[in-house]
Amino acid sequence: MEKMEKMEKMEKIEKTEKIKRIKSYAPRGGRMSPAQRRSYDALFPRYGIAFDPQQPVSLDPLVIEIGFGMGAATAEIALSNPAVNYLGIEVYRCGIGRLLWEIERMGLENIRIIEHDGVEVLETMIADRSVEGFHLFFPDPWPKKRHRKRRLVSRPFTDTLAAKLKAGGYLYMVTDWEDYAQSALRELSAAPGLANAYDDFAPPQAWRPCTAFEQKARAQNRPVWELFFQSKILLS
Ligand SMILES: C[S@@+](CC[C@H](N)C(=O)[O-])C[C@H]1O[C@@H](n2cnc3c(N)ncnc32)[C@H](O)[C@@H]1O
Repeated sequence: MEKMEKMEKMEKIEKTEKIKRIKSYAPRGGRMSPAQRRSYDALFPRYGIAFDPQQPVSLDPLVIEIGFGMGAATAEIALSNPAVNYLGIEVYRCGIGRLLWEIERMGLENIRIIEHDGVEVLETMIADRSVEGFHLFFPDPWPKKRHRKRRLVSRPFTDTLAAKLKAGGYLYMVTDWEDYAQSALRELSAAPGLANAYDDFAPPQAWRPCTAFEQKARAQNRPVWELFFQSKILLS
């Protein structure tokens, strides 16, 4: 009886935690185009991985991108690095359809997609010390003060990111929002498992293609800030 009560209590706590979890994304409107819908229906069964906390991801070497949007940069990076497995995590189904379309067009075999909240995916499906790199390109900036707690690059998630990195692994973030860039610099610098690879903001990494959000920023003459951190655990 005591055991039953304990289990019920645990279930209740788990449920409240789920309700309280702060989301780093807002639902994005827009209907899938017919091509995105076709690609999603035909290709997700092949390139998608179902969200399942009981099934850890087993890809090695593994680079994870959270919030790939329409996935153009994801596809280009994967094309240039065929020996690396890329896991794109996104909640925006139009973008997922678009990336699947690109995967087929480019004949890519090294991208997998999870359609779910990246925070939950990392917490439940990604083993510690298993990731070579994280790409966070133009994460939602949440500019209003009362929304800042929704920013992806903030504690405690920065600790989770650090814990998932392998020795020598990296985290690469780019944003066009200065206040977010400054707060991310502070948060990442404070994460015990991470070290800034540069003294301050990073120079653009030559291998990173321009993303859709970056194109918008550049068209409006807005600068872009880059942050490049590495796992403090050194390669032996
Ligand atoms: C501002 S857009 C940037 C998209 C793309 N990286 C680019 O640069 O064009 C941010 C994207 O991150 C996604 N996103 C935000 N938080 C997420 C999360 N916790 N899990 C998965 N996707 C997320 C949103 O759905 C959105 O598509």
